[in-house]
Amino acid sequence: MENLKAQILRLKKEKNAVILAHYYQQPDIQEVADYVGDSLGLSQEAEKVHADIIVFAGVHFMAETAKLLNPKKKVLLPDLKAGCSLADSCPPDIFKKFVEAHPNHVVITYVNCSAEIKALSHLVCTSSNAEKIVNSVPENIPIIFAPDKNLGNYINQKTGRQMLLWDGSCVVHEAFSLDKLIALHKEHPNAAIIAHPESEPHILETARYIGSTSGMIDYVKQSPRTEFIVATEAGILYKMQEEVPDKILIPAPAMEDNTCACSECAYMKLNTLRKLYDCLVNETPEITVPKAVAEKAIVPIQRMLELSK
Ligand code: 13P
Ligand code: SF4
Repeated sequence: MENLKAQILRLKKEKNAVILAHYYQQPDIQEVADYVGDSLGLSQEAEKVHADIIVFAGVHFMAETAKLLNPKKKVLLPDLKAGCSLADSCPPDIFKKFVEAHPNHVVITYVNCSAEIKALSHLVCTSSNAEKIVNSVPENIPIIFAPDKNLGNYINQKTGRQMLLWDGSCVVHEAFSLDKLIALHKEHPNAAIIAHPESEPHILETARYIGSTSGMIDYVKQSPRTEFIVATEAGILYKMQEEVPDKILIPAPAMEDNTCACSECAYMKLNTLRKLYDCLVNETPEITVPKAVAEKAIVPIQRMLELSK
């Protein structure tokens, strides 16, 4: 009897499917993926896919972005309930009213949002290119930035802009404990703290490097330091450790009431190897986007990809 991984690899070939996975996915899923990356890398990869089926091992907004880029292909998500607290924090009907109340603003949305929200946007960005995308808008034009207030606040600081921020956030990146982080750093004074910009300002203030998941991996690879405290979802440690087997990587500690000692995204972890296998066998759950929404939502994504070349 073939094991699950071997069966997935066989099915992938038989069905001309490709598996795209985010760094926060479980290691066994990353191991069967054709490409593992951050949101920007995954969108860029999705744009190039020649396979008939894309299995997206990530969360709903990521698979939806892949579908928008490949409307004729079948895009599958192992568990349709794999959502995102940031995407949930921006309901389209309320956001539409907010945008209408600020008619002279350019609307930039972080890719962690639904297709309906992207359809209301002029530009989309990821944590890799947010600064570049914001800087592409002339300085005299006011900007609405949604849904992540922490990323928005960080980009405001970096660019000197005063973008109007939507009040959304990521539960995973707001679970870090500053007190525990400071105590941990005292135990490891030579460790560099690195953080994802979805983290709160008091966490970002402690960080030597702030960047996307890919940015954090690159930083750890090129840094002469040998010890790092990593403030993002703990799943990143698998790929990061593979890249720097001789360095010490410590996950940033979460607050007392968190479900685990570090911080894990319960949505990302809904995908399992078994669900990935079932989804390849049954070619379901499939991602669909209404045509009218898709036609509008693809425009700011394509603008972003063009600006990121
Ligand atoms: P990255 O694009 O940096 O991988 O971030 C995705 C995400 O969901 C972070 O929580
Ligand atoms: Fe969404 Fe946060 Fe999970 Fe990323 S870590 S997918 S932003 S809930």
